Amino acid sequence: MAYAITLIPGDGIGPEVTEATVKIVDAVCPGITWESVEAGEGAMSRHGKPLPDHVLESVRKNRIALKGPIGTPVGKGFTSVNVGLRKALDLYVSLRPVDSLPGLATRHDGVDLVVFRENTEGLYAGIEHEPVPGVIESLRVSTEAAWRRFVKHAYEWCRYNGRKTIHLVHKGAIMKLSDGLFLRVAREIAADYPYLETHEIAVDQVFMDLVLEPRRFDVLITDNLFGDLVSDLTAGLVGGLGVVPGANIGDKYAVFEAVHGTAPDIAGKGLANPIALLRSAALMLTHIGERKAAQRIEHAIREVLRKGEVRTGDLGGRSTTAELTQALLAEL
Ligand code: NAI
Repeated sequence: MAYAITLIPGDGIGPEVTEATVKIVDAVCPGITWESVEAGEGAMSRHGKPLPDHVLESVRKNRIALKGPIGTPVGKGFTSVNVGLRKALDLYVSLRPVDSLPGLATRHDGVDLVVFRENTEGLYAGIEHEPVPGVIESLRVSTEAAWRRFVKHAYEWCRYNGRKTIHLVHKGAIMKLSDGLFLRVAREIAADYPYLETHEIAVDQVFMDLVLEPRRFDVLITDNLFGDLVSDLTAGLVGGLGVVPGANIGDKYAVFEAVHGTAPDIAGKGLANPIALLRSAALMLTHIGERKAAQRIEHAIREVLRKGEVRTGDLGGRSTTAELTQALLAEL
């Protein structure tokens, strides 16, 4: 099959990990034409805005994008391109599978869970203002419609993918109205899936339980900000940000990206781990129906890690991005 896919290399280590990923994806799925477009800091200097219109047009045309990380200035500067993309394309589901990989020394083995994060609302939407100097209001907007489509998508995904146990992660004892709405909607949807087991758990407790006993968990469904936090915690359980993939999915479009950021400390040095973006690309291949190609990538990653000879610094090795890419290609 022939495909056109938008490629957003991004900032920092983004161009390095996207280059590696494209090489490997091309090896297993040669029919892809990549339409490379610039967003982030580079686009800001060249096009005057970090998310130029032609980037959105490209994703709208192709429906699918693979994206590297994009930096967001803290406390000043432009608003997050990631949040902007999710809003503009209505990518309301964030899907983040987290599983143990062979050969990595981690605190727990056998972790295999999926985090579903609502991607458009809540505190993470960053709706803030300063009504009087020295006083800030951050608005946590939740709507029934947004919860309903997101939770429904997550349950359908669980049914289709054979997942059995769902935890709804909330802080309903304190945020009685907003998380109360989430729980009410989710309970209604859960009632349509009596063959899936649904539990409710407070976000503080889930953090403790994940650290102590992560194998208990199968699927976590949660809010935008809680999901952001839980994703990094769970990434830490299986080897860190360099190995955990992600996807942002809406009804029309999907953008696949790793959980990690631009890693300014190692950017431009050829040391970045491309596995997280590569696994995001594998999710993308599954999404477009190239399941076999996705499985080949996952298999190659597991074999290279199991052998343990080629590893980047974040996984305790000394290999470069290029050496790991070569090892993955050789494994394929
Ligand atoms: P970060 O994920 O960029 O880095 C955290 C630590 O993990 C660093 O020590 C980094 O070297 C390491 N790391 C991350 N990815 C790695 C990889 N692939 N290989 C090897 N080591 C890796 O998080 P940080 O420092 O909080 O954020 C830096 C910038 O990235 C910020 O501007 C932030 O806004 C942006 N960011 C963008 C995201 C996106 O585009 N989806 C997601 C998270 C952060």
